[in-house]
Amino acid sequence: EGVFTYDPGFVSTAACESQITYIDGANGILLHRGYPIEQLAEKSDYLETCFLLLHGELPTPEESEKFRNTVKNHTMVHDQVIHFFNGFRRDAHPMAIMCGVVGALSAFYHDSMDFSDQEHREIAAFRLIAKMPTLAAMCYKYSMGQPFMYPRNDLSYSENFLHMMFGTPCEEYQPNKTLAKAMDRIFLLHADHEQNASTSTVRLAGSTGANPFACIASGIAALWGPAHGGANEAVLTMLEEIGDEANIPEFIEKAKDKNDPFRLMGFGHRVYKNFDPRAKVMRQTCNEVLTELGLEDDPLLKIAMRLEQIALEDEYFVKRQLYPNVDFYSGIILKAVGIPVSMFTVIFAMSRTIGWFAHWNEMISGSYRIGRPRQLYTGYTKRDYPTE
Ligand code: CMC
Repeated sequence: EGVFTYDPGFVSTAACESQITYIDGANGILLHRGYPIEQLAEKSDYLETCFLLLHGELPTPEESEKFRNTVKNHTMVHDQVIHFFNGFRRDAHPMAIMCGVVGALSAFYHDSMDFSDQEHREIAAFRLIAKMPTLAAMCYKYSMGQPFMYPRNDLSYSENFLHMMFGTPCEEYQPNKTLAKAMDRIFLLHADHEQNASTSTVRLAGSTGANPFACIASGIAALWGPAHGGANEAVLTMLEEIGDEANIPEFIEKAKDKNDPFRLMGFGHRVYKNFDPRAKVMRQTCNEVLTELGLEDDPLLKIAMRLEQIALEDEYFVKRQLYPNVDFYSGIILKAVGIPVSMFTVIFAMSRTIGWFAHWNEMISGSYRIGRPRQLYTGYTKRDYPTE
């Protein structure tokens, strides 16, 4: 048998060709279809970026309107889906619920399951982009014991999400424009990031010919861990654990101690060995939101800002090029908006769904082989089953 390249963690293995996203980690550059993330964050919005990731070009005004309207046509979920929610404990982690309910969508759309047909793939894309916020908000409402809120198509994508999260049948939610804009920016900045662990998982699952809704559920599972999308939740948990600015040095020392598994959550990145360009934009949005809400003096946020400052000056972090990543700031913004911590990773999953789908779509539309890594076997050589 052949000789394999041994590359644990896929540090230097390219598993596919892709035209969607380019990252230059050394120089802190991120481009979607050639457009710098900073420009998209400033000039575009989440739905337009979804179109771009999916189709490769920015939409014309007509295409944009059609795309937005079609998303609105798909925002409701099938009424049967409610039964899936009712099967969960009220205190279930929302990411556990999301793995289940998004996977369950694969059982609902028997009219358009020929994924070799581009039209069927497009309908699946619309369904996913439109229904993820509805399902995400349902997770929260279920945990609170509050009635599910129907989507409102007169609102923007992010306003509608906030309405489904915070509105009740008794009181209409009045979307705050700054917060809705900040949410849209969070969605946009998380939309895609080439072959990260969850996207690679979606591609691997998709390479077997599996149903795309099930593939997206596999991406949600991979995203959940604290080393990946779960970091935004872990950041807040860590800040609460630190509890006081005076305790920061102790936690910095723990993070540096190789005998202690603790790491500073929201710091470091496999690819960026420079400031993550998304984190720069997120940092600015974070300041805007805190000012808008008059939260500059919030104790937890003060700990975050001080931690950032200390870590950026500490030799250990400087030498290893460990900068605050996108999850460090997004967690702070989400907390300020009033999103419960357990929902943070769900919001990441919602936003990343378009990236997962675009990669799945790119793979399915071209020529591909089933993903099948090899291994270095380090177990027993052949031995005989013991006889009496
Ligand atoms: N705190 C303390 N030390 C760290 C940290 C950290 N957050 N991250 C990396 N290191 C050290 C690590 O111990 C190692 O040191 P040494 O060379 O002395 O052994 C060195 O830096 C390189 O780390 P690595 O584990 O080889 O790097 P990796 O590319 O395998 O891991 C990472 C990348 C993001 C998983 C890691 O930096 C980490 O665990 N960060 C904290 C979790 C986090 O914030 N994750 C979100 C990533 S961004 C969004 C996303 O991908 O979803």
